[in-house]
Amino acid sequence: ARIAVLISGTGRNLQALIEACADGRIDGHIVCVLSNRADAAGLERAQQVGIATEVLSHRDYESREAFDTAMIARLLSHTPDIVVMAGFMRILTPAFIAAFAGRMLNIHPSLLPRHPGLRTHEAVLAAGERKHGATVHFVTEELDGGPLIIQDELIVRADDDVMTLAQRVMSGIELKIYPQAVAWMARGELELAGRQVRFKGQIL
Ligand code: GRF
Repeated sequence: ARIAVLISGTGRNLQALIEACADGRIDGHIVCVLSNRADAAGLERAQQVGIATEVLSHRDYESREAFDTAMIARLLSHTPDIVVMAGFMRILTPAFIAAFAGRMLNIHPSLLPRHPGLRTHEAVLAAGERKHGATVHFVTEELDGGPLIIQDELIVRADDDVMTLAQRVMSGIELKIYPQAVAWMARGELELAGRQVRFKGQIL
């Protein structure tokens, strides 16, 4: 499968996907990494292994629609089968979501449907919740609200702070579940059917 990855920052999830493609866990290859920020560290991770990169700054466009139209064109030039959002920090327009409907995944650092949006680790600590985690889901028009594919959780410790929690969610959960979900997609085992997800033909 041909995989495009969208980033805005560090690219730790991107790195995990690069490694999973390299060692065969994902039957596919990353055909392009697109960032809306020229200084995203993830761009270097891609360049180091010879993956094509694209930088499109949203500031160069007069509207969200114009930016997304340009992104669609840039992505389509790489003919991706799967579009993976890995820390891409822009809200997508309906036109963008429609262009890749059923082929686009996102990872979110919370146990969705709890805590959509930003600052999830803060929210979990502020609410005194015992469980936290991360979720991979199909991207639909609802922000962080698309059908869930895989989720894993951890127990919040009494001495956890935002840093330790973010670190444990990233290394213990995100970097494991995202390559797994993308591997299923690449093998054609996942399908979005309306609001439902089918895994190997069975409704999840
Ligand atoms: C991750 O926590 C991801 O879940 C969130 O943004 C962060 C991206 O980190 N949406 P990285 O760029 O993969 O290191």
